[in-house]
Amino acid sequence: QAVMTPTDTDRLTSAVTGRLAADAQRVTQWLEAWFARQDAAADRLAEAMSHGVLNGGKRLRASLVLSAARLATAHASASDAKAQGQPKGQPEAIAAAVEMLHAYSLIHDDLPAMDDAELRRGLPAAHIAFDEATAILAGDALQTAAFEISASADTHPNAETRCQLVSCLAKASGLAGMAGGQMLDLQAEKTRFSLEQTTQMQAMKTGALIRAATVMGGIAGGASETMISALADYADAIGLAFQLADDLLDYQAESTELGKPAGRDAEAGKASYVHFYGVEGTREKAEALVEVAAKALAPFANDAEPLLELAQFSINRTH
Ligand code: IPE
Ligand code: IPE
Ligand code: MG
Ligand code: MG
Ligand code: MG
Repeated sequence: QAVMTPTDTDRLTSAVTGRLAADAQRVTQWLEAWFARQDAAADRLAEAMSHGVLNGGKRLRASLVLSAARLATAHASASDAKAQGQPKGQPEAIAAAVEMLHAYSLIHDDLPAMDDAELRRGLPAAHIAFDEATAILAGDALQTAAFEISASADTHPNAETRCQLVSCLAKASGLAGMAGGQMLDLQAEKTRFSLEQTTQMQAMKTGALIRAATVMGGIAGGASETMISALADYADAIGLAFQLADDLLDYQAESTELGKPAGRDAEAGKASYVHFYGVEGTREKAEALVEVAAKALAPFANDAEPLLELAQFSINRTH
């Protein structure tokens, strides 16, 4: 296995930045159009929702949806002539739904009762820009919008597929996924978590939605069972790698670059990999996970390249 030179890394990062930027723009436009279509009496709530989701996130999860959908489509058309006739979804809508769900999780994560963070994506957190009650409601309404969009016939023409999409997003967000993981994250401030418990917490609070994004993209693109299971393995590896990078950044980076308060995990006594492995060890673990992700997609050769670049980006990012 060749060692990547800094030039390779730079090239990959800039390639993925280009693709990520293009995907981010498509999904941001989709979201803007969605807000423009809402004729809400509660315009303050609509403003708080759009503050939460149209405030410049990296859109990694959106790009995972779109890249997985493209892999599925490319692979189906190369190898399975029958699949070409299958009705295809509108992956931008699914990407937007996943970003809404994610934005809801961040708005609630920043609330005083949770992480009590005043800065998000370089802007005042929703409860600072508005107020706590409005932030809670904005999270609630972003969450339900995500399901409304996933269940819409415009998103996918096949009702059974829509049901799969909704179910996948629901499982990833609830008791066994993000919300459950957030519960464990808060409990870890009070009780010392083992490495095993920390890994499970990370997989739930962050990994589950990253996995759902990737799998939902695959479903929308008409992926086979085999491909879905490979996509899930890939996503499980990068989901953990992504949260390791997040913990490292919290430990090492400056708040100005992060766009969110730095150094809060140690302050709050959060369970973090940095605590177990140190900076170098956490970095190495994240790199090993990117290799695991690459192995999972090996059967798809060059078609998987964009997803492999996103895996690298997950750990090389600076915010
Ligand atoms: C931050 O996610 C929260 C975690 C799950 C670690 P991102 O780093 O993807 O946040 P945005 O969407 O780019 O702001
Ligand atoms: C949050 O993890 C994961 C979510 C489900 C929102 P963190 O609390 O570490 O995320 P940041 O660092 O505030 O973005
Ligand atoms: Mg948190
Ligand atoms: Mg937080
Ligand atoms: Mg964090």
